[in-house]
Amino acid sequence: MDDADAARREGPDVVACKRCPALVESRSQIANGGGPTDADLLFVGEAPGETEDREGRPFVGRAGDVLDDALRDAGLARADVRITNCVRCRPPDNRDPHAEELANCRSHLNAEVAFVDPGLVVTLGKVPSEHLLDRSVAVTSEAGSVHDARLGGRSRRVLVSLHPAATLYDASQQETFADGIREAAALAGEDGGGPDDSGGQSRLGDY
Ligand code: URA
Repeated sequence: MDDADAARREGPDVVACKRCPALVESRSQIANGGGPTDADLLFVGEAPGETEDREGRPFVGRAGDVLDDALRDAGLARADVRITNCVRCRPPDNRDPHAEELANCRSHLNAEVAFVDPGLVVTLGKVPSEHLLDRSVAVTSEAGSVHDARLGGRSRRVLVSLHPAATLYDASQQETFADGIREAAALAGEDGGGPDDSGGQSRLGDY
């Protein structure tokens, strides 16, 4: 069964998973992706933090506020986009997910991508950028660049972005981050890829 078949059968949410013993220990719950399952834009972060672990949803802490502001600035709302993480369980002390944990969670991510079938995937920060592009990425200099990567059963367009939290550590990154989100919105079309009045959905391929 490939990712697309698995996604059709199981949907984008993981109900129970015990692949990573350290994360099973450290998590309160699994934080599945959030947002419309037919979104044209899919944002992929690293892993849940403390707030996400408590609420069971991605990007609902300070980094999420930064992302929301940038989306708004780009003419989008959170309700227009799908947001998920490479790893769905909070790592202990918010450490980076280990390579094995990223690999363990990859089929969940692939299944979600196959289910949502977005026109554009946006990687938020170094960990998701390197995980999805399968090479080292200098995120600051590559922010805003678009690449093809095999993901969720086929080749997809991937836009590299800074992680929103980078702007909290270094305010000079705000403009680069905002530019990347604006570019993602532009690629997704003026309506942000959400359902339009005619009941259809704009896809990147339409532009
Ligand atoms: N940082 C991430 O990468 N993901 C979240 O869900 C929250 C913060």
